[in-house]
Amino acid sequence: MLRLEGITAGYGHTVILEGVDLSLPPGGLLAVLGRNGVGKSTLMKTIVGQTRIRQGDIRFGGETITGQASYRRSRMGIGYVPQTRDVFPSLTVEENLRIAARPGKWDLDGVFEVFPNLAARRDNKGTEISGGEQQMLSIGRALMGNPSLLLLDEPMEGLAPVIVEQLLDSFRTLRADGDLAIILVEQYVNLALDFSPVTIVLDRGRVVFAGESERLRQDQDLMADLIGAGGASKAKH
Ligand SMILES: Nc1ncnc2c1ncn2[C@@H]1O[C@H](COP(=O)(O)OP(=O)(O)O)[C@@H](O)[C@H]1O
Ligand SMILES: [Mg+2]
Repeated sequence: MLRLEGITAGYGHTVILEGVDLSLPPGGLLAVLGRNGVGKSTLMKTIVGQTRIRQGDIRFGGETITGQASYRRSRMGIGYVPQTRDVFPSLTVEENLRIAARPGKWDLDGVFEVFPNLAARRDNKGTEISGGEQQMLSIGRALMGNPSLLLLDEPMEGLAPVIVEQLLDSFRTLRADGDLAIILVEQYVNLALDFSPVTIVLDRGRVVFAGESERLRQDQDLMADLIGAGGASKAKH
């Protein structure tokens, strides 16, 4: 459903990603790992159309989307939860969700079922909820758009362990859905490897590993080499 072929992309004159290949079947899962600053967020932004693509092709659902505007990609079914949470502070939780709605199986009730915290906070403004609830709302907003592909950029970052557990539960629910393809960018290595059977590792804008998550997990030397000490220290989570 999603295929990147030889993607070289960046911002203005700066090239960040070089020759990135990637493919994901419908309903597929992919974890994206790599040290800070290697281009993980740039990869997500490239898929949604927020970078300058210099070479290569992106196909989604059989169509080339390489030159398509962001809003068109979103309409085509690419849901994006950026690393900076995407919430309107002056709107209530319910309003935030309703304005993101597009026809499909996901609706307000469905999102509240996956994120009961949000149901309890439906009349609170975006500013009045916790960081964890903002993250849930950001994901809820993406789901309201009824995507067939969901991009999650470090959703656990900066959240308390109890909230991380709740988010993990909700991700399991989403994964069980089966129709929704998910790309998860994660700093917490084991969490990412648990989530998805397939992983890619980026290093300085290039794909340096693409394969079974289990292979990476069982090769600690390779993992240390690709992800480094920072990754290893976070591997416990
Ligand atoms: N809007 C931007 N303009 C120019 N350079 C950027 C921009 N956003 C990120 N970068 C640079 O791109 C590189 C990769 O960043 P990023 O994709 O955010 O990495 P990661 O998500 O893996 O930490 C970094 O060197 C960063 O400074
Ligand atoms: Mg990032």
